[in-house]
Amino acid sequence: GPRHPQVVVLFGATGDLAKRKLLPGLCHLATSGFIPDCRIIGVSLDALDADGFRQITRQALDAFGSRKLSDAAWNAFAATLDYVPLSAGPAALKAAVTKAEQSFGAESRRLHYLSVPPSAALSAVRLLADADLVQDARIIMEKPFGTDLASARSLNAKLHEVFDESRIFRIDHFLGKEAAQNILAFRFANGLFEPIWNRNFIDHVQIDVPEMLSLGQRAGFYEQTGAYRDMVVTHLFQILAFMAMEPPTALEPGPISEEKNKVFRSMLPLHPADVVRGQYVGYREEQGVAPESETETFIALKCFIDNWRWAGVPFFLRTGKRMAEGQRIISIAFREPPKSMFPPGSGVGAQGPDHLTFDLADASKMSLSFYGKRPGPGFRLDKLSLQFAMHDTGLMGEVLEAYERLILDAMRGDRTLFTTAEGIERLWEVSMPLLDSPPPVRLYQPESWGPKSIHQLIAPHAWRLPF
Ligand code: BG6
Repeated sequence: GPRHPQVVVLFGATGDLAKRKLLPGLCHLATSGFIPDCRIIGVSLDALDADGFRQITRQALDAFGSRKLSDAAWNAFAATLDYVPLSAGPAALKAAVTKAEQSFGAESRRLHYLSVPPSAALSAVRLLADADLVQDARIIMEKPFGTDLASARSLNAKLHEVFDESRIFRIDHFLGKEAAQNILAFRFANGLFEPIWNRNFIDHVQIDVPEMLSLGQRAGFYEQTGAYRDMVVTHLFQILAFMAMEPPTALEPGPISEEKNKVFRSMLPLHPADVVRGQYVGYREEQGVAPESETETFIALKCFIDNWRWAGVPFFLRTGKRMAEGQRIISIAFREPPKSMFPPGSGVGAQGPDHLTFDLADASKMSLSFYGKRPGPGFRLDKLSLQFAMHDTGLMGEVLEAYERLILDAMRGDRTLFTTAEGIERLWEVSMPLLDSPPPVRLYQPESWGPKSIHQLIAPHAWRLPF
C-alpha cells in the first residue's frame, strides 16, 4: 500500500458508482490497514453536510459492501468522512482539504477522484484549479474519455493544461480484475505458452462479455453512450491489448503502455461491415429512453491486429445488455492438426478446435480443452479439459475488488494498470469508421445471444458461448 496518509476528494460522492464500488472499496482499504490513514471529502450537487454524507455512506456499505463491517470499523471510517456541496465553491473545498491535511502534516498526499460524467469532469478540474488544489495532486478519471477522436483529444488537451500526464490515472476497472492481471502472469511468467501465442498456432480469439443486466437507473447515461463506448472502446480493447501485446521489458507503466500502444497502433480501423449492432426488444420502452432510440445495447465485431504476430488472425468481440447469461470470457481457438490419423466417425474435431479459456470472473478461472480418448474399445475421441479455479486455492480472502486494487495503485503513484492519453486517442481513431457510418441496429430478444447476424459475422467459426 501507499506509505503516506491520503486526502481523497471524491466528486460524484453520492452517485451510483460511489455507492456501489468506491465507498465500499475505500472503507475496506481504510479499515484493513492498506492505507496508513486517510480523509475522504465527498463532493456532489446534493446539499448535504458531513453527517448526511456519513448516513448515505453507511447505507451504501450496507447495500453493496461485500464484507462484514464491525461497529469499530464503521466508526473509524465514518470519522474520516467530510463533505462539501458543489455550490459551496472553491474556498470551502480548499478549507476542507486544508483541515484534513493539517491533521497529517507534510506527509499527506492528495488524490482527486472524478466519478462524474464527462461534461462535469472539466468543471470539476476547473474547480480544483480555482481552489488551488492541483499542485502535486493525482487525479483518477472515469470513462468515457471522450466520445470520439476529436472530443478525446480536446479533453486530454484541457486536462494537460492542469495535470501532467504522469499524474492522471484513467481508470479501466477491467484491468483491476485479478483475472486480467493473471493474463500477464500466465503469458510472461511461463515458458510454456508464449511460443504458441501467435498466428502460426492460433486460429482466432474471442472476447465475449454478455451481461444479463438491463439499464437500472442509467438510461440517461446509456442513451448517450451505447454498448460500444460503454464497454468495447474501454474494457474489451484493454483486455485485447493484454492478450496481444509483446513481452514488455519490465512490469512497469512505461514499458507496459508502450507495448499496449503498439497493439493499438497495429489495429486496423474498424470496418462497419464487420460490426453487428443490436438493441433488445423493449429498450425503447424503458424509462428515459427515446422512443426512436438508435442506441445499441449490444455489439459484436471482428477486428485485426496487423502485425507480425497476429496478421490475419480475427479477434471477435461481443458484449450486450439483457442477454442470456452473464459471462466474461476470453477464448483462444487453436489451429487444427494438419492431418487426422483417427478413423472417420471417431469424433476428432467434431466438438470444435482446442481452446484456452480465461474467465474474468473475480475469482480467476482458466481452462484448456483438448481431445482425448474415450475409455473402451477402438478410438473414440471426446473433449477433455484441464482447469484452474482460484476458488479452489483457499486464497479468495486475498482478492481485492478491481476498484480497490486500482485506487491503491493510484495512491502509490503506480500507473501500470492505467491507460494513457495516447492509447485512448488511438482507440478512438480506429473507431471512427464505425462511429461515422454505424450499421443499423438489429433487434434481439431479451435473454438471447444477440441478433441473428452474429453467426454470419463469425462464420466459418462459431461463438464459444453458450458452453
Ligand atoms: C461498466 C459499464 O464499466 O462495466 C457497465 O459501464 C457494465 O455497463 C460494467 O455493466 C461491467 O463490469 P463488471 O465488473 O460487472 O464486469
